[in-house]
Amino acid sequence: MINVAHELKKARANGYAIGAFNTANLEVTKAICSAASKADFPILIQTTPGAIEYAGLKQLFDIITDEIKSSGAKAGIHLDHAHDFLTVKQAIDIGYSSVMFDGSKYPYEENILMTEKVVDYAHKFGVSVEAEVGIIGREEGGRLSGKAVYSGPPEVVKFVEETGVDSIAISVGNEHGAPEGEKLDLSLLERISNVVEIPLVMHGASGLSHGDIRHAMGIGVAKFNIDTNIRKAFTSALESSDETDYRVAMEDAMAHVEKVVLQYIKLFRGA
Ligand code: G3H
Ligand code: ZN
Repeated sequence: MINVAHELKKARANGYAIGAFNTANLEVTKAICSAASKADFPILIQTTPGAIEYAGLKQLFDIITDEIKSSGAKAGIHLDHAHDFLTVKQAIDIGYSSVMFDGSKYPYEENILMTEKVVDYAHKFGVSVEAEVGIIGREEGGRLSGKAVYSGPPEVVKFVEETGVDSIAISVGNEHGAPEGEKLDLSLLERISNVVEIPLVMHGASGLSHGDIRHAMGIGVAKFNIDTNIRKAFTSALESSDETDYRVAMEDAMAHVEKVVLQYIKLFRGA
């Protein structure tokens, strides 16, 4: 298992990024691990609380750790968008390498206090912590939600200093669900990057142009989260399949996911 804080720091210092790919089942996990092992480049495999609810914490954790081992992928397991301490604690206790506490729905000061508690607990076990300042927009019918709250540079600085987080997710035009028209405010991103040394995290990366991703990698973004494009690759392959043997249909869907993940790893690894 990789040391997540160390890998992210190294990525930011060297202008490349770690892809964090969402999974909720065996097949997508296999496809992600196979891509990472072929590319021989570090990645994160991440699960949301929703994925955990779907598959079960232990089942999903066991699938991911077994696949990482058997594929030889350089990977860590990350908890994505946890909204409460208990979910974070359960993930750390079972062996996750990294967690995100997403307190973006709470008032700023409360987000700081809750994140501090997560950092105190996680760091005792060498687990890396990501948090969020501002609000990353959510998809609404494939359009920009307009409900995002962009991250302000002074708020990010104070948050990072007071909580001691290892990486910070920012809202600079990125939205979840690959809505049409998703575009980064690169000058805001640069202002944040100039005042914060820790690795920056870009959620909602499925809808970003490769140009925006490359630019962001050059100014401090060391982790990109990809979920929607994995879901699309998997489900569209299944939808267009005529196979009655689901194992054959799934093999094809896995090949599609692997291809998408490999393309992203090549992009994140840089020149
Ligand atoms: O936390 C996960 C992501 O931010 C994924 O966003 O579905 O737009 O790729 P996406
Ligand atoms: Zn996200």
